[in-house]
Amino acid sequence: MSSPPHAPNDLEAFWLPFTPNRHFKSSPRLLAKAEGMYYVDVGGRKILDGISGLWCVNAGHSPRPIAEAIARQAAELDFAPCFQFGHPKAFELASRIAAMAPDGLDYTFFVNSGSEAAETALKIARGYFAAKGEGGRFRLIGRDRSYHGVNFGGVSVGGIGNNRKAYGPLVPGTDDHLPLPYDRATDAFHPGEYDANCTYADELERLVALHGANTIAAVIVEPMTGSGGVFPTRKDYLQRLRMLCDKYGILLIFDEVITAFGRLGHTFAAERYGVTPDMICFAKGITNGAVPLGGVVATKKIYDAFLQKPDHAIDIFHGHTYTGHPLAMAAALATLDLYRDEGLFERGNALEPALRDAVHALKSAPFVTDIRNVGLAAAIELAPIADAPGKRGYEAMIRCFEEESLVVRLAGDTLVLAPALIAREDEILRMAESVRTVLKRMPGS
Ligand SMILES: Cc1ncc(COP(=O)(O)O)c(C=O)c1O
Repeated sequence: MSSPPHAPNDLEAFWLPFTPNRHFKSSPRLLAKAEGMYYVDVGGRKILDGISGLWCVNAGHSPRPIAEAIARQAAELDFAPCFQFGHPKAFELASRIAAMAPDGLDYTFFVNSGSEAAETALKIARGYFAAKGEGGRFRLIGRDRSYHGVNFGGVSVGGIGNNRKAYGPLVPGTDDHLPLPYDRATDAFHPGEYDANCTYADELERLVALHGANTIAAVIVEPMTGSGGVFPTRKDYLQRLRMLCDKYGILLIFDEVITAFGRLGHTFAAERYGVTPDMICFAKGITNGAVPLGGVVATKKIYDAFLQKPDHAIDIFHGHTYTGHPLAMAAALATLDLYRDEGLFERGNALEPALRDAVHALKSAPFVTDIRNVGLAAAIELAPIADAPGKRGYEAMIRCFEEESLVVRLAGDTLVLAPALIAREDEILRMAESVRTVLKRMPGS
């Protein structure tokens, strides 16, 4: 028998995602426990979580009701297939989501991640038109800087160059992207969203003129560009996009993997902007990060289009072994109870000004070129080092962890804060002040 390639405690074998592996393994950041707003690392150090896990632990870490619901479920029904069978909690959760979603969004397809949610919505859009005999509508239009996960469809409609460059050719019919509704010259340091009339959505009309509306299936946007660096939407933008999609018979998909479940002060950001899309993708906060789960909630019009088949025939050729997994369903039901019982979305809404004020106070800190915020999400953009994009942000992120015991997220040279909805105002202030301290200490400041 050959010897194992790595010793049991060796860090070598695990290939970390979206991480510089060699550097990480030379000075790893290993988290051992978490409760509320804090991690404890393997050395016993208490670390403030400034990013709600990865935008998912909206109710803070390790709430007991969620842990207990998962444990009960594991002992009662560990697994049941949702292909041709089902189990009660999957139906219960879908009904709960329909009741919480904007009117008209009533049918939920469960998946296991945000990436799969985006992929599923894109496939449903094409499948919907195919079912209606309009298979010529195949184009899927994304937006610059957007992130829709890592699968081929999501990467194709996504607008982050580094996520796309190595993986082409991407999915046919996804080459067009709407512009990010942001102009650095006028918009930098603007707190929150804008009221201004904007014409960014009208770019869709150019694409309609170019390709013909009868070739376009769907437009997918994040109500707030999250992983691309926290770009709030303009207040009228989504309404205008909805109007144009209606005008040309195009489906509108909101990817709310980050913005749903309290991040923007509501169950869905669609509510905040008063716009109802044809589908919403969600994941992350639905289980408070405790069990992988995502989903797409769609209209009856879309659901019904798939159901025009004989009784024995499958209506949608799509799904996963773990679609509607009992542990995920139990975790989600307990999470939704917790959000409701603790009034956490309202609490998040009330905290928005505290985060806004804390981050915008960093305007004069070294290297800062823009600050953006909306809901409980904020970005502090730093000037890149010439010829080394991302290096300054990376160093700041590591220093936040090592010197200030704070986890922040990185998008290029942009530092992101997204506190849990349970954060106290002094914790939010500490996050921003730790960033200031780190920036002041950095070379060249
Ligand atoms: C808007 C959006 N869509 C999709 C995803 C992908 O989710 P996951 O990492 O669960 O696949 C993310 C992840 O951050 C996201 O922010």
